[in-house]
Amino acid sequence: MFSRRLLSKTPQWPLLKEQAQKLKLHLPMYTLHLEAAGISCDLSHNYITNEVLTLLSSLCQSQGVMEFFKAMIQGKEVNISEQRQALHTALRNPHYYSETVRDSVADSIQKMQSLTEIIHQHQPWEGSEHPIRYIVHMGIGGSDYGPRFLIKALENHKINDLSFHFIANLDPWELQDTLKKIDVKHSLFIVSSKSFTTDETLTNFSNLCSALDADSHFIANQCIAITANEEKALQQGFKKKHILKINHWVGGRFSIWSAIGFSLMLAIGTHQFKEFLAGAHAMDEICAQENFMQNPALLLAAMDCWYTNFLDAHSRAILIYSSQLSDLIHYLQQLMMESNGKSRTLQGEIVDYHTNPIIWGGVGSNSQHTFQQLLMEGTRLIPIDIILPRTSDIYFSQQQNKLATHCLAQAKALTSARQGLGQPYHLFSFEKISPKIMGSLLALYEHRTVMAAALWAINPFDQFGVELSKSLLTTV
Ligand code: F6P
Repeated sequence: MFSRRLLSKTPQWPLLKEQAQKLKLHLPMYTLHLEAAGISCDLSHNYITNEVLTLLSSLCQSQGVMEFFKAMIQGKEVNISEQRQALHTALRNPHYYSETVRDSVADSIQKMQSLTEIIHQHQPWEGSEHPIRYIVHMGIGGSDYGPRFLIKALENHKINDLSFHFIANLDPWELQDTLKKIDVKHSLFIVSSKSFTTDETLTNFSNLCSALDADSHFIANQCIAITANEEKALQQGFKKKHILKINHWVGGRFSIWSAIGFSLMLAIGTHQFKEFLAGAHAMDEICAQENFMQNPALLLAAMDCWYTNFLDAHSRAILIYSSQLSDLIHYLQQLMMESNGKSRTLQGEIVDYHTNPIIWGGVGSNSQHTFQQLLMEGTRLIPIDIILPRTSDIYFSQQQNKLATHCLAQAKALTSARQGLGQPYHLFSFEKISPKIMGSLLALYEHRTVMAAALWAINPFDQFGVELSKSLLTTV
């Protein structure tokens, strides 16, 4: 169905190595600019030439990148090791999929919507005369980062005065700090775990119940479970009508579009949540096209491979010029590094090349006063993603314009960084933060990650590396 060949065994490998040698690591000005679903992708500041792009396009063909991507969106079992589909795109627009998938997605949205309306209308919740004012979201990894990041990012799009709190780590401080900030009788506790076996989440929930001296009435009436393991949630005392199900074909780091996004829907409402989904779907359609030079995810994946395997860049920095988007870095670290931090191919063969680079970064302009010194005068080639909202609809909005000026000045400086060799960067900018733009941006990174996996001939959908530490829990 798609290539599982070692990247290093492709005919393009030696040719690209030769190009890398030829390229004198200066930043040739190669105009490469795409507009995609509201995201302006300026890729003109890269170590890239026509010859390199032609070879990368041919490499993508050899590795069957678009075949793999098409197989994913068509619902094939692309997650080979777990014999599963990876259908997060169905959550944005189920119409292309089977009746079973369509019904499952519709039921999930409907249940999320009806619970949201009860809470938004301050209706008595389960016989309690106390309307819900606090939402406590308990989850970790993909069951935490999406809601956590987006509720902060879309704060200006909140349609109510609900107060959101997150408990993820086993660190007792998070539970203690949350309990100090909420009024329990006005609170709804959302236990978010696809497997419903994650030790951190279940332990936090158990400690919460102990701290509140809670009984089964509390779980049945003030708690909602979001999981693919309904049986386990029922055993723990959750009411069936308070269980929002997710499908096994949604990977944790690809799950914000599913019921895992319920807290986000509570914050911004159903309409704007659907805007978020629509933004992602618009990007899905753009990234499904075959034309290499018109497909932003394909170009970005090919360049991730180019920097990693031919220019020996070991990391990529993500500089986010918006404090509201500060948690995006953690979201993207999980998406890209948990997906592609692999060393065996789809066939189990050990790779003889690097796969995903280390993803790190932070907020600008703060990081211009901390780690960006290393980007400017350090010794390493470190490709950079710059993410920039050009304007803001917050009060003092002219400050965002000033921040954008700092961003663009720094970007300009990067071209003369490293003693004039220049630091390459992609500049992703958009008018302002909105549910739709957030959907487009996250979908672009998802598709870039999946396409890069196809180039490296690895499986982006499993995560056996994290299972080992879980299995050793009982031995320490
Ligand atoms: O890190 C492993 C992992 O399974 C992630 O992929 C997932 O997002 C996280 O743990 C939480 O898993 P669950 O949603 O099953 O609690």
